[in-house]
Amino acid sequence: MRGIDELGDLRGQRVLLRSDLNVPLDGEAITDDGRVRASVPTIQQLTAAGARVVVMAHLGRPKGAPDPQYSLAPVAKRLGELLGADVAFATDVVGESARKTVAALADGEVAVLENVRFDARETSKDDAERQAFAAELAELGDLFVSDGFGVVHRKQASVYDLAQRLPHAAGLLVRAEVQAFSKVLDDPERPYVVVLGGSKVSDKLGVIDNLLDKVDRLLIGGGMAFTFLKAQGYEVGGSLLEDDQVDTVRGYLSRAEERGVELVLPVDVVVAADISEDAATAVVAASAIPADQKGLDIGPATIELFRGKLSDAKTVVWNGPMGVFELAPFAEGTRQVAVAVSEVQGTSVVGGGDSAAAVRRLDLDEGAFTHISTGGGASLELLEGKELPGLTVLES
Ligand code: 3PG
Repeated sequence: MRGIDELGDLRGQRVLLRSDLNVPLDGEAITDDGRVRASVPTIQQLTAAGARVVVMAHLGRPKGAPDPQYSLAPVAKRLGELLGADVAFATDVVGESARKTVAALADGEVAVLENVRFDARETSKDDAERQAFAAELAELGDLFVSDGFGVVHRKQASVYDLAQRLPHAAGLLVRAEVQAFSKVLDDPERPYVVVLGGSKVSDKLGVIDNLLDKVDRLLIGGGMAFTFLKAQGYEVGGSLLEDDQVDTVRGYLSRAEERGVELVLPVDVVVAADISEDAATAVVAASAIPADQKGLDIGPATIELFRGKLSDAKTVVWNGPMGVFELAPFAEGTRQVAVAVSEVQGTSVVGGGDSAAAVRRLDLDEGAFTHISTGGGASLELLEGKELPGLTVLES
């Protein structure tokens, strides 16, 4: 995978840069700017080399037409603040505003195009439609740099097809992400521990399938743990449960046993009758969840158990919160597990999406982890062992 350094002299070159600036917004306020911050180093490297940087990104899932609630304007503003420089904004993607904005760029300046998903061809399943859109995008640049790691699992025009049209390279973020995941997938130091959480076990089946043969220990918390507890024969009250996955999960329990993988489940849980900030909570054994209660976090004994299982780890991958961390009564499990992961004497990789959001929301030290991914679906697909089109295309 070529890096930016291998693109030659960038002075005066128009570089089309695909970033992932898909951040959560509350009105026009960005509630977590992690992805915008992560896009900065590559932009700075390009501008320092004298390139004219044209940032392409998406926000949310608009229906293939302009929709003000998905405008990238607030994100472009935040990018300007982080760069400490003016960032021009084109109010369309490949129209007159885009052409004029790009034409007005001087060496070392940055422009952001409006949400690429305002054009239905960006996400089209029809190759010809996507390619036609990529051809129009390509007119705005001389080179392509792929740095939107969070979207490399998507075969979309600005991620995939554009790389087939222009000389291309991977940006610093994509390279860092790929390197971090290759290390834990291909060459993990042992003991190798994976911590999985999140609400749905069905979202993690591919990851469990792929990692079960590679890891020494698999710790499971979050809503998905209840399907495992059910598979072990326990009643889980009103907790999240995917009944249709109980058999699959039972299969994982026996596969883990056959392979000598320690599969560790919660031994106690924090329960409440409702999911609210002022809910009355109790800690109960995982084998004794009352019928009218929901398990919403792992309990203190489980935190200790998980801490112990992480203490000698040399490689840890953590993906998915241990409970409803957005609410204070159910945040402790996620906080304590995150801290234990960060204290590991070795490599600690945090999957994107909710776990990365939890690290920031709980004000934990981001620098204490080896790598915090910016990719939700993309990091999951890498952990599933899949080939990602937006990465494969960069090898050509
Ligand atoms: C994400 O938020 O995971 C990425 O930005 C990809 O977004 P998508 O799932 O809408 O393609």
